[in-house]
Amino acid sequence: MSAPPLNPALFHLDREHLWVMHCSEGPVPRAAVRAVRSFLQKELRPWEVRWVEDFQGIPEAVRAEAAALLGGRAEDISLTPSTSTGLVAVAQGFRWQAGDEVVAPLGEFPSNAWPWLALRTRGVAFREVPLWEGHLAGAGAWDSRPPTAQADPEGRLVAALGPRARILALSWVRFQDGLKLDLQRLGRACRERGVHLVVDGIQAAGTVPADLEGLAAFATSGHKGLLAPQGLGFLWTEEGFRQSLTPSGTWLSVEEATDFSRPSTDFDRAWLPDGRALEPGGPNLLQASALLESLRLINRARVPAIAAHAAGLQARLLEALAGSSWAAEAARLRGLLEAGRLGSILAFHHGGAGAGWMNALLKSGYQRGILASVREGYLRVAFHGFHTEADADRVGEWLSGTAS
Ligand SMILES: Cc1ncc(COP(=O)(O)O)c(C=O)c1O
Repeated sequence: MSAPPLNPALFHLDREHLWVMHCSEGPVPRAAVRAVRSFLQKELRPWEVRWVEDFQGIPEAVRAEAAALLGGRAEDISLTPSTSTGLVAVAQGFRWQAGDEVVAPLGEFPSNAWPWLALRTRGVAFREVPLWEGHLAGAGAWDSRPPTAQADPEGRLVAALGPRARILALSWVRFQDGLKLDLQRLGRACRERGVHLVVDGIQAAGTVPADLEGLAAFATSGHKGLLAPQGLGFLWTEEGFRQSLTPSGTWLSVEEATDFSRPSTDFDRAWLPDGRALEPGGPNLLQASALLESLRLINRARVPAIAAHAAGLQARLLEALAGSSWAAEAARLRGLLEAGRLGSILAFHHGGAGAGWMNALLKSGYQRGILASVREGYLRVAFHGFHTEADADRVGEWLSGTAS
């Protein structure tokens, strides 16, 4: 295998900490720390903060890098503090009628549930769809069967789109089982039915190549695969869909907002046609300075190269587990990998061993300096562009010595 597309030396990685949990929180590159420090230095002497270069320039540069990452246009990007706030902007801005329905896969991360559940008082229903036979979530999550390559989750979602469905809202890559959904197939089916496809992209952004065709909106925060600190992400919206949304209504969401030669108290202004209309207010420049560096790094490395690298490491780890007590689980995951069903998370199902056993397993990893995570019945091992074959082998040695 060739060198990792993201040079590990750009991060603070050490032998004591093998971080395979960017699906919780990604490591920040040193360049992001330098950028934040240098911006704060300017804030010490506010006369050094430049209106055009900093206040406008940094957010503009982030929107441009975000657009490049997704293969979209910068004017369709809104900077948002989190995935949730991006989805809230869509949920609150959409023109609902009582009786409308939001359809979602069963067991979405709450960021893609609460913005829709909050609409109950407006008569909007949130309808969850199990994605495979034996799929459970909520209080029964640990009793769920795991997905296999034979499942047809898109078919089940499309079949659930009835006449009242207005939005299909889903995670591109699911947080617990790691399943990646086919957005193009879903986008086509939504379009045929006049339904808008809204995507929570946080578990794929930066590690899975994007294609926005057929999507109405795509929301992510920056703190997982995008390798930035918590607190800033972005929302992409398709132009026509965005025009149908009610804007957030902040002082920066209208034309000529920062042209102080015109009184700011003149409220006879049009909403901006671009993504800034959905932003929640003044940009967080410290966060933006960090996210900008991380996005530049990822765009330079190229997401397809990162995705191919992570898939290679996944295959290597699963191969290493073929003769171990994890053999059946490794075979299930290999089926998903080969079917193009995975993002960067390898989610090992507990197989009935239970939460106590999984937590003990997790702790045994910590003792070896391997930092993975457990969610709803799955041990999550996530590889990114900075991991190496030696990292995959180290995880393999750890798991081979464990049995459920
Ligand atoms: C699928 C998914 N969506 C959203 C989030 C985080 O949401 P937010 O950016 O609103 O904090 C997570 C994080 O754990 C996630 O796994």
